[in-house]
Formats: sequence, C-alpha cells, structure tokens
Amino acid sequence: MATDYLIAGGTGLVGSEIIRQLLANESTRKIITLGRRAADFSDKRLTHLTYDFSGRPQKSALPSNCVAICTLGTTIKQAGSQEAFRKVDFDYVLNFAEIARDIKASSLHVVTAHGAAKSSLIFYNRVKGEIEEAIQRIGLVEVHIYRPSLLIGNRKEHRAGEGFAAAAAKALSPVFKLPGLSSVQPTPADHFAAFIIRQASSVSPGNHVHSNAEIMSDR
Ligand SMILES: NC(=O)c1ccc[n+]([C@@H]2O[C@H](COP(=O)([O-])OP(=O)(O)OC[C@H]3O[C@@H](n4cnc5c(N)ncnc54)[C@H](OP(=O)(O)O)[C@@H]3O)[C@@H](O)[C@H]2O)c1
Repeated sequence: MATDYLIAGGTGLVGSEIIRQLLANESTRKIITLGRRAADFSDKRLTHLTYDFSGRPQKSALPSNCVAICTLGTTIKQAGSQEAFRKVDFDYVLNFAEIARDIKASSLHVVTAHGAAKSSLIFYNRVKGEIEEAIQRIGLVEVHIYRPSLLIGNRKEHRAGEGFAAAAAKALSPVFKLPGLSSVQPTPADHFAAFIIRQASSVSPGNHVHSNAEIMSDR
C-alpha cells in the first residue's frame, strides 16, 4: 500500500537512515520533512518544509492519513543548557505530536531513550519520560515509543566519548548477549530504522513502548 510520511529529525543519524530506507521502498509515495534544514537526499518524493516547531505549519502542505515519525533530539551539551535541551526534546517533540494528531496521522512514532522515566533522578531521562507521557495523552489513535541505547552508525558530526563508547561496545558485543544485558546493548542506526519502519507498516491501535531489548532481539 502506498504510504505518506511526515518526519521530524530527518537530518539526524536515525532520521536520515529512516529516509534512506523509505526511499529504497517503492511503496513510499511521499515524505515531508519538517525542521530547520533539509535532509541530504534528492528524490522527487521528498519535500522539506522549514519549520521551527512553534505554532503550526500550513496544513495544506501536510499529508493527511500519513505515518508521523519523530527522531528529533539534542543533548544538554549541544543545546547549551538543561532548559534549551528541554525546549527541543520536550516542547518541539510535543509540537510535532500535536501536528500529527491535528492532521489525523494514522500512527505516531517517537524516539526517546533507554532509561526514560518521568521519576528519574537524571534530568535527560526525566525529560524523555515526561515527553513519553505527554504524547500518550493527546489523543492519537496509535503511538509507538522507542527506547534505544547508545546509537551507533556513521554520524557526520563528531561527539566526544561516543566514538570510544561505540568501539568499546563492538569489542564487548559477546558480553551484551548475556541475559539482562541486551537492554543496554548499543543500537545500530540501520537496524533501528528498519525496526521503526516495520512497526510503521502495520496497524496496531493503542500505545506501544519498545524497549532496547525488543529492538535488538528483532531480526
Ligand atoms: N545519540 C544517542 O546515542 C541516543 C541514544 C538514545 C536516544 N537517543 C535519541 O534518539 C533520537 C535520535 O537520535 P540521533 O542520534 O539520530 O539524533 P541526531 O543525529 O543528533 O539528530 C537530531 C535531529 O534533531 C534535530 N534538532 C536538534 N536540535 C534541534 C533544534 N534546536 N531545532 C531543530 N531541530 C533540531 C537535528 O536537526 P539539525 O540537523 O538541524 O541539527 C536532527 O535532525 C533523539 O531523540 C535522541 O535524543 C539518542
């Protein structure tokens, strides 16, 4: 079945991998990306709308009955403060979820993080937990929340510490097969993108939370 997608975060590691995989699929009819920059792909099915995640984009420019995917996010270090981080990872994500609701998206898919919990003592995890709760309450028919561990893949931007963590994770990969450790096993972006696209391809009303263990055990 031909499907239309609305994507926020399409320039990021996971978002660009999702777009790459969707464009390789003939059943993808249209992809509209929202954000401050266009994703680096050239395909007539792909359109970018420059948008700052406040207010609403023009409704006529948006697909109806589409699948909405949000891989938007930053880090406290990148954003510069906890407040600036929250603006992106809570306010912008909620704005996108409300757009998805308003245009009657068939399903919404949002990436948070392993450890997300609104009662967490860790600020990052707390914000991720708060956004999970908020988007499950705004009246969408089908919501999928994904909680990956450290994301690994070909990231253009250099992030201190993540390269080392990814190399260490590779060396330790047999260890992550031990019972209980799959929840913290690093999550390859290409595998993760394929997992999200599979969930987006089937109809399953309600709220769903996908743990890293579930993502990593999926073949
Ligand atoms: N990195 C990890 O190891 C990790 C682990 C667990 C969960 N996560 C979560 O997984 C999701 C995807 O991660 P990722 O590594 O693919 O992210 P990423 O590569 O850092 O991409 C982030 C996306 O968010 C957009 N964005 C960030 N700040 C913005 C701002 N101020 N205004 C507008 N757009 C903004 C970026 O757009 P621009 O290109 O315009 O900057 C980009 O499209 C995020 O929610 C992240 O928090 C990440």
